[in-house]
Amino acid sequence: MAAKRNKPVTGKKKATIDGGLAAIVLAAGKGTRMRSARTKVLHAVLGRPLVAYPVALARQMGANPIIPVLGHQLAAVEAELGARFGAGSFHVVEQAEQRGTGHAVRLALPALGDFAGIVYIVYGDVPLLQRQTLEALVAKAREGQCLALVTARPPDPTGYGRVVRDKRGNIVGVVEHKDASPRELRIADINAGIYAAPAAFLREATAKLDARNAQGELYLTDIVAQAARSIGVFGIEADPGDVSGINDRQQLAEAEAIMRARVNRAWMTHVTFRDPASTVVEPDVQLGEDVELGRNVSLRGRTRVGAGTRIDDGTILIDTEVGAGVQIKPYCIATESVVGDKAIIGPFAHLRSGTNLGPEVHVGNFVETKKTTIGRGSKANHLSYLGDATIGEKVNVGAGTITCNYNGYEKFPTVIEDQAFIGSDSQLVAPVRVGKRAVIAAGTTVTGDVPAGALSISRVAQVDKAGYADKVANRYADRPKK
Ligand code: UD1
Ligand code: CA
Repeated sequence: MAAKRNKPVTGKKKATIDGGLAAIVLAAGKGTRMRSARTKVLHAVLGRPLVAYPVALARQMGANPIIPVLGHQLAAVEAELGARFGAGSFHVVEQAEQRGTGHAVRLALPALGDFAGIVYIVYGDVPLLQRQTLEALVAKAREGQCLALVTARPPDPTGYGRVVRDKRGNIVGVVEHKDASPRELRIADINAGIYAAPAAFLREATAKLDARNAQGELYLTDIVAQAARSIGVFGIEADPGDVSGINDRQQLAEAEAIMRARVNRAWMTHVTFRDPASTVVEPDVQLGEDVELGRNVSLRGRTRVGAGTRIDDGTILIDTEVGAGVQIKPYCIATESVVGDKAIIGPFAHLRSGTNLGPEVHVGNFVETKKTTIGRGSKANHLSYLGDATIGEKVNVGAGTITCNYNGYEKFPTVIEDQAFIGSDSQLVAPVRVGKRAVIAAGTTVTGDVPAGALSISRVAQVDKAGYADKVANRYADRPKK
């Protein structure tokens, strides 16, 4: 990253420099090239909508206020930001009609009140923007009390505003592609659309904007020439890949691949990836030391994984909290669940929302759980459905046990107390309670509460008919078996 000073800062330090930082996120446009019913900034990269990236970054930067300027699908975008960051953590400004980037910033500024610090401006569709770039930008604007803007040199500058310099290399303005002369179109330096400046300058400069240009819009870029004539301009050069906006679904997919690699690489300080190219770790996931991730593992939402846990191939965890030393075997799916330390899960287990497994629990293949709590050391190793159940410690749930929790209208709870033994192929017709150390015989249909320590058995008596096989064979002697 090269910083270029436009005007030498001479004279004494400014007497009072407000330390505050505010952020404006421009995201009112529809994003026509997405060809989508959904507004562009709600499309996600690595599970996080585009607009949430600059807002998350603004929070990391300590910006306050954070002002998203919204237009298309304002309510949906605002709701999404509220769900992620809390409704009080940003200040939405509406731009009903998109009359240009300068118009958007002009509308945003009153939300700052008499704020006197540095304001930075960024778009809602640049998820790959790095914090270091913003920090360098804001530092320049603060140091010099000037306008700092991010520049880049993409392989093809078509469509971008070009950064115009004088003979000494000082920035004198930005000219939009549609307004540029043939000579200006040959400039390789483009304006990334990311700026930082003192609030007072932005108020003054945006008030002076007019729409006398090829697009009849208020160009924010016109503040650059104003700054060149007054407070000075600095360019901060960034990697073009980091600052390019997402305009279509191809760029969306490319950004996803870059972000995935970036997130995975950052975790490799203390997490082992068997095959990082196939592993998805969304940006809000947390991983402890010595976690091991197999191929095609996908960790989404606010999933957290404790130290030393191994997650084998093909497992998908969504908003799930996994303890330390857990083993998750291949092809498990968990949503909004909790898995205690040293549990062993899978292969092919399905933990649905509201599952809460204690430490050292075993949940094996083809077991489905929903709104179910299982206490320390209990096991359900094969082929079960456990829904709306509260299961104590050291319980054994045999193969094929089903909680019959639904009568077509409402759900009912099942309680299984500590150390109970549920024989294979049992049905527990809820609401029902199985007492401590009770034994349910294999094949039993439990329809009433079972007292502690009792055996519950419901089976028809076994009848054995001698010679049956031969009898049937003789009956069909003239017809060969198919
Ligand atoms: C703008 C810059 C251009 C720069 C380019 C970088 C201007 C005049 N031009 O181009 O120099 O190279 O960004 O990508 O600023 N937006 C609003 N309200 C509006 C207009 C835009 O919120 O009235 C938002 C859009 O949703 C988008 C962003 O601002 O997120 C940029 O708008 P876009 O139209 O893509 O920018 P350009 O004018 O093409
Ligand atoms: Ca654009």
